[in-house]
Amino acid sequence: MSFKLRSSNWFGKKGKDGFIYRAWMKNQGIPAHEFKGKPVIGICNTWSELTPCNAHFRELAQSVKNGIYEAGGFPVEFPVMSLGETLIKPTAMLYRNLASMDVEESIRANPMDGVVLLCGCDKTTPSLVMGACSVNIPTIVVSGGPMLTGKYKGTDLGTSDVWRFDNANRSGEMSDAEFEITEACMARSQGHCAVMGTASSMACMIEALGLSLPENAAIPAADSRRKVLAHLSGMRIVEMVRENMLPSDILTRKAFENAIMANTAIGGSTNFVIHLTAIAGRVGVPLTIDDFDTGLANIPLIANLQPSGKYFMEDLFYAGGLPAVLKELKQFLHNDCITVNGKTIAENYEQHNSYNENVISTVSAPFNKQSGVIVLKGNLCPDGAVLKLSAATPALMQHTGKAVVFENIEDYKARIDSAELEVDENSILVLKNVGPKGYPGMPEVGNMGLPKKILDKGITDMVRISDGRMSGTGFGTVVLHISPEAALGGVFALVKNGDTITLDVKNRSLNVDITEDELASRKELWTAAFTPASRGYTYLYQSHVEQAHLGADLDFLKGMSGSEVTRDSH
Ligand code: FES
Repeated sequence: MSFKLRSSNWFGKKGKDGFIYRAWMKNQGIPAHEFKGKPVIGICNTWSELTPCNAHFRELAQSVKNGIYEAGGFPVEFPVMSLGETLIKPTAMLYRNLASMDVEESIRANPMDGVVLLCGCDKTTPSLVMGACSVNIPTIVVSGGPMLTGKYKGTDLGTSDVWRFDNANRSGEMSDAEFEITEACMARSQGHCAVMGTASSMACMIEALGLSLPENAAIPAADSRRKVLAHLSGMRIVEMVRENMLPSDILTRKAFENAIMANTAIGGSTNFVIHLTAIAGRVGVPLTIDDFDTGLANIPLIANLQPSGKYFMEDLFYAGGLPAVLKELKQFLHNDCITVNGKTIAENYEQHNSYNENVISTVSAPFNKQSGVIVLKGNLCPDGAVLKLSAATPALMQHTGKAVVFENIEDYKARIDSAELEVDENSILVLKNVGPKGYPGMPEVGNMGLPKKILDKGITDMVRISDGRMSGTGFGTVVLHISPEAALGGVFALVKNGDTITLDVKNRSLNVDITEDELASRKELWTAAFTPASRGYTYLYQSHVEQAHLGADLDFLKGMSGSEVTRDSH
């Protein structure tokens, strides 16, 4: 090996310091030759029984270790903060940046030459990648894989059905008992959500960026090939250390553009916009919200997956996986982008094909000509807002309606099913104060369930607008990530019941019809509707979080601080 291993600053030292570094490894029963002179590979593990999507990660880590040993490296597994989407309150997004700090500092502070990131549930992917990028040592991602497709009374189920079942339950169409039975039918194996929700979108993002081995995104968690991929990733990270292949070598502007195109073709989550922007901010690649407006790029929906389509991640894998999707996009992609295995993205997809045209179709015969995220601007959202085309209702793409305003999520919950609520199917539901600072943490509440009186009419979609996010499993004509958020006191904060709002997708605009004089008088009476936290992480978060269109990272975390440790206390 012609270069000095970073870990040799610990294990290769002479005298007292080296003694201490080595002795306290030997107490684990590890012989000196295992960690002396070999690439030391951290396995950053988000295993937690409170993150059910990642609860199988101890087994996965063992497969990674086997690969690292086989390639002549030395694995060291370490825990980091794990963010379970379903259980953590008030929202996992509040802690994405905190987890990224944990990852960054854990990697930099310890004797690692390379790192394997075990990612699964939604926020565990961006938080780990953001943290590792800020250190910039050789990094490979192993995703945990999706659950097997849910099964219920002869039909397939996934997380998106939760919203449908909830509507059916609230309208009386589905009994409480039946509603409960479907819980176990939907989540019937290890792994993350089986639809093209945020976790699956993040796994596809990683593969399209080139940060994982090919096929990483779609192999089901319960499929033995997931462990094979983990083993091979363990082998490859040792080589990456020897080649000094860094995240900054892979994460170029072109790689980010590839990820945006892939997310469009698969009907990926709107959360992708925020997380990819935050990752770009860590590696210093200029990426703005306008780069995400893929509606004009003519990339259609070619993966038929819920919530935009019919099938599940398991079906995507059997149909050829993400490589087959990327191959179909070859006319759009930057095919020369290098990936973690040292091959280009084109070399990686070349051997793959779609084996089921019901799941992966062609660009010339897509499932939906319109796909991806569009970016709206206007007096309601001067810095931008997003809408997922493939999940929206075409008839609502040009729509003017009267605002029905909820000042916060509690207000929404208290009044949405009230018989007194003045609303009809042409109304536009507006939810304020669910943005990064105002909530705080920007929860996934933007796809508000429709009022009961609207559901009772058989209506299934309305235009909904908020400064919050939407679960990647959600759907509907839902405008999200309004920036600046209501907590900052912009025009969005001043909207009242009965105001006329116009959504114009073709012209990418979202405006409210209020005169300047009226806005000025409302602004004089406006006060922020949130109480800032006075201590702890939430105080730090509210003081430093940026707006959604910038990735909602903490302002002081942007960029890299590298892997060097200059002080040594021993
Ligand atoms: Fe973990 Fe959906 S709850 S991925």
